[in-house]
Amino acid sequence: MKGDRTRAKQEAGQSAARVVADGSVVGLGTGSTAAEAISQLGERVDSGLDIRGIPTSHQSRRLAREADIPLTTLADAVPDIAIDGADQAAGCDLVKGGGAAHAREKIVDAAADRLLVVVDPTKLADRLDHPVPVEVLPDARVPVETAIEGLGGEPTVRSAVQKDGPVVTDNGNLVLDCAFGPLDSPGALATDLDGIPGVVAHGLFVGLADELHIGSPDGVERRQC
Ligand code: A5P
Repeated sequence: MKGDRTRAKQEAGQSAARVVADGSVVGLGTGSTAAEAISQLGERVDSGLDIRGIPTSHQSRRLAREADIPLTTLADAVPDIAIDGADQAAGCDLVKGGGAAHAREKIVDAAADRLLVVVDPTKLADRLDHPVPVEVLPDARVPVETAIEGLGGEPTVRSAVQKDGPVVTDNGNLVLDCAFGPLDSPGALATDLDGIPGVVAHGLFVGLADELHIGSPDGVERRQC
């Protein structure tokens, strides 16, 4: 039910935001669940919490500004903690990039001392099988598609919804949604994708998460990674 899922995202986001300690630099993830964390952090800032946020997208920057969260950059600070959503989680391995923000998310999440992942239960799977978003330099689209097909994937250029043509990321690139079927070895695929010239970033986040906050209308389950 839609209301339950919305409540689950709120619970997950709020739970992770409560973990953030005074004085922290916080990576601010992208998406509807991370947005709940940003909103809760804003309320805590209103109540006196001293933090600085590092956004991962135009969306999270806008939400943070609306919530009066002071911002900084990776050039000026190292994130103590990052809070981010996921499109799918199998154990603590993730597929991200449903909002095409995974390149900056990966940079910020990897730089953080701790990554808290906020999800509702629909995101959980025994094995990752969600199509893997791959951000690609526009000029490299065709050779990257060929290389991905060579790895057994079926790439599809992501189309925009309220714009004719493809999705263009915050970084000016294209996104290929790559169907690989169930992944036996996400880490090996991540390494292969990292090695393709023209790939800016892919949405496999393997070995980055420290804790999952799985929301439900009744509360939150926290799983350590
Ligand atoms: C953004 O590109 C993604 O990585 C999001 O973090 C992911 O799609 C989760 O978004 P929701 O919380 O909206 O499902």
